[in-house]
Amino acid sequence: MRKFFLLTIIAVAAMLVSCAGDKVKYRIGVSQCSDDIWRDKQNAELRMGAYFHDDVELKFAAAYDSDERQVQQIDSLMNAGIDLLIVAPNQVQTISPAIDRAYDKGIPVIVFERKTSSQKYTAFISADNYEMGRVMGEYIVARLGGKGTVLEIKGLEGSSPAIERHNGFMDAVKDAPGIEVVASLQGDWTEPTAYETTRQWHANNKDVRIDLVFGANDRTAMAARKVLGPGVLYCGIDGLPGEDGGIQLVRDSLLDASYIYPTHGDQILDLAIRILDGKPYDKETMLMSALVTRDNAKVLLMESEEFMRQADQLDSLHKKADSYLHKLDTQRIINWLAIGVIALLVIVFVLFYLYHLRKIALQRERVVNTLWNLKPEDVPAAAEPTETSEESSHSSDGSEAVDNTDDNESVAVSHFITRFKEVIESRLDDSDVGVEDLAADMNLSRVQLYRKVKSISGSSPVELLRTARLNRAYQLLLTTDKSVSEVAYAVGFTAPSYFTKCFKEEYGMVPGDVRK
Ligand code: FRU
Repeated sequence: MRKFFLLTIIAVAAMLVSCAGDKVKYRIGVSQCSDDIWRDKQNAELRMGAYFHDDVELKFAAAYDSDERQVQQIDSLMNAGIDLLIVAPNQVQTISPAIDRAYDKGIPVIVFERKTSSQKYTAFISADNYEMGRVMGEYIVARLGGKGTVLEIKGLEGSSPAIERHNGFMDAVKDAPGIEVVASLQGDWTEPTAYETTRQWHANNKDVRIDLVFGANDRTAMAARKVLGPGVLYCGIDGLPGEDGGIQLVRDSLLDASYIYPTHGDQILDLAIRILDGKPYDKETMLMSALVTRDNAKVLLMESEEFMRQADQLDSLHKKADSYLHKLDTQRIINWLAIGVIALLVIVFVLFYLYHLRKIALQRERVVNTLWNLKPEDVPAAAEPTETSEESSHSSDGSEAVDNTDDNESVAVSHFITRFKEVIESRLDDSDVGVEDLAADMNLSRVQLYRKVKSISGSSPVELLRTARLNRAYQLLLTTDKSVSEVAYAVGFTAPSYFTKCFKEEYGMVPGDVRK
């Protein structure tokens, strides 16, 4: 029984766990080379994109501009069993082996925004960094009226956007003889490095006049501004929306121009799902981009703020839907739990009822086999000899008679039982009858009757009388329509409640149960 309970509980628990467990269809690893506001925006968009596919799980890793860390992270994403890798490689050469490993293992790879030296990738998605550098170069030439000095601060050496932006920029200014690039300093995309590099260069070139700084990204340009101060024009790339983003910096004239470097996380996620779903996709995707100047900064800012507001709303809508789904899940678990408990109760009830019926059946059997139905031949051999046999074992002259007592004795016992049954049964309805009355009816003394009855049955006459009353009551309950009280009176009980108590003691059930 206990085993059955345990098994049922385990089955219900397993059912609940399987109901509550989320089914993930695709695990997508995102390996970011850096961690900054540009990456934050992109990761948020990737998450947003995943909202539209509720069976997608995203695993993010940020390498903080370290090649070794990114290689390790790609390997551990692979070991975690991702179905697809989205990666922005820190530098062209250094990350390629790890990406190749993933690709060779059969994991589709989307390289985005920064390139690798290998051809082992499934799709590439980015804006055109060369074009951005070139357009920015043309803008700078025009801005300076074809004449002036420019300080360039490049991005991380070995990362493809840094190389391409520089090349594009140089190609644009080389045709403008009045523009002099006084230096191309090596940065690494970060603000502290740009600040320190500019500070050192400036300290060594105090007398070199700078009209404009072109930073490979907005943070770099702003770091140079901290060193060189106002009076110089600053251009960067990224053009992020929001507080302290490039668009706002241009609107506030802290930057002269920027270039929107699109993040498009949601688009990257869609591409990933297309690949995983086996749908057609473009191997190379070029994202559109635009120059941000004082002329359009205000409008772009308004548009991007509106876009961000809607994205925020979508986000909170998703959170709400998530919490509803969570509640629904909990409710579902509670429902299953309730069904489990009810099923368990029904099972317990049925088992109990069957047990009860079985008990009643056993009781019936017991009644049939009670002492009262004892046949003379069932009497134990050790039973005390009867008065009659004792009397007949002595001859009239007092000498011992031949021992034919066995047969005689059983006949005598049989007679005695038959007689005693008759006496008791004739008195069953008499509530006043006592042992003396029974003894008198049997022509024996009270003590003699007690001894004989005890030796034959192991019970006292009073006990047998009570058993006989209850036995008759049982039969009456089975064979007649009499009420319990009527039966109680019919078998010599004066109080039905006492009758019920005795009945329960004798048969382990109340009189009413007999008829069930
Ligand atoms: C962000 C970032 C951007 C830059 C890009 C180049 O991590 O540094 O500022 O435009 O990466 O890959």
